[in-house]
Amino acid sequence: MQNRTEKQRDRLAAQVFVCTNDRDSEYACCADVGGQKTLEAIKSWLRERNAFWSPISVTETGCLGLCSEEGTAIAIQPRNRWYSDIQPEDVPELLEREFGPNGDRVGDEFSEDAGDGEHAADE
Ligand code: FES
Repeated sequence: MQNRTEKQRDRLAAQVFVCTNDRDSEYACCADVGGQKTLEAIKSWLRERNAFWSPISVTETGCLGLCSEEGTAIAIQPRNRWYSDIQPEDVPELLEREFGPNGDRVGDEFSEDAGDGEHAADE
């Protein structure tokens, strides 16, 4: 067992978890409402700003408990930010609010400009 905490803390400022969960059920799941496209939109936005992987990584994940028929759920850690109903076209506005227009706002100042998170995608 290796403790890799220090290495990852040096590299990472934030990690975006994007739900692409697929389920065969009557309940909504992110795979059916554009999860994969939202995931790719997030990666592209960060790559265009040279911020993908370091300092902001993106992880495809299973259900985040925010299932909706209106779009994908994402979480941004360690900021403890949670969004649902994200469409690919929402990604630029959302990431700009979180990380700044150049994707380089990764320090402590993010919280004031990013709003309360709950309604950011609705605005
Ligand atoms: S299936 Fe994506 S949050 Fe539940």
